[in-house]
Amino acid sequence: MSDFSEISKQYEADSVVQKSASQILFELLEIQPEDDVLDLGCGTGHILKIIKEKTKGRVVGIDPSEGMIEKAREKFSHQGITFRVCSAEQLDYKNEFDIILCNSAFQWFADPAKVVAACYNSLKMNGKMAIQAPAHDNYCPNFLRAIREVRENKSTKDIFAGFSSPWFFRNTAKEYAKLFSGAGFKVKTSKIDEVTTCHSDEETYKIFESGAAAGYLNQAYYRTRLTKEYIDGFRSIIRSSFNHQVDEEKQVRLTFYRIYLLAIKQ
Ligand SMILES: C[S@@+](CC[C@H](N)C(=O)[O-])C[C@H]1O[C@@H](n2cnc3c(N)ncnc32)[C@H](O)[C@@H]1O
Repeated sequence: MSDFSEISKQYEADSVVQKSASQILFELLEIQPEDDVLDLGCGTGHILKIIKEKTKGRVVGIDPSEGMIEKAREKFSHQGITFRVCSAEQLDYKNEFDIILCNSAFQWFADPAKVVAACYNSLKMNGKMAIQAPAHDNYCPNFLRAIREVRENKSTKDIFAGFSSPWFFRNTAKEYAKLFSGAGFKVKTSKIDEVTTCHSDEETYKIFESGAAAGYLNQAYYRTRLTKEYIDGFRSIIRSSFNHQVDEEKQVRLTFYRIYLLAIKQ
């Protein structure tokens, strides 16, 4: 079974798409040298390491996965970064941060409206919040093609029929903007981009394992019991699908639709 504590062991090495997608957040946020910064769903903390180089202010990361926070503490606590095991829904800060960012985690929030309201309270006046996350029902056509094969394969279709998606996806940038303006934010940017990068089939599989597998192979999102045969069968169908998705240069053109949003507390 896969959850983020399990994934944390390999996350740092395999989270290449999450890392490259975070660059635009830095451009949107323009972090200043005194800013106090909070990272929601910080994972193993690699973004906070970059932030710590940009500000002398307070730098905090929260994540509900004990495995992710343990890895983050091992690597970065001595650099003056604070980590908490806490979900975004449990945020309890009041007017404390200049910046909140959330990279590749917003889709996991069970109650995004509650999180956005808690973030509004956590920010100082004129504080900024930016998110980057997969968006749209067709969030990654490559993954969805592989999942279609799992849904149709006779060895996996019965158990997969009991899967319910844990993810929050909206199909338009306007819907994301509305979520933030509804909490009192002024939305400065909200756009869904199509982002394509090229990877070998094996790299594509590792990218799948670094995020999507925490949903698709997690008992919490199934009606029926997951068996070892199902999990092994699922993984082998996904691998073989990526193998069939390579072009003549042996590369998968891996596409994600991503929301980039910047909002200001006013
Ligand atoms: C794909 S990882 C992204 C980690 C990191 N932000 C990055 O860019 O590499 C998604 C993270 O969201 C976290 N997460 C899941 N549900 C969450 C919630 N309700 N509140 C905060 N974080 C959550 C997971 O534990 C995981 O570490």
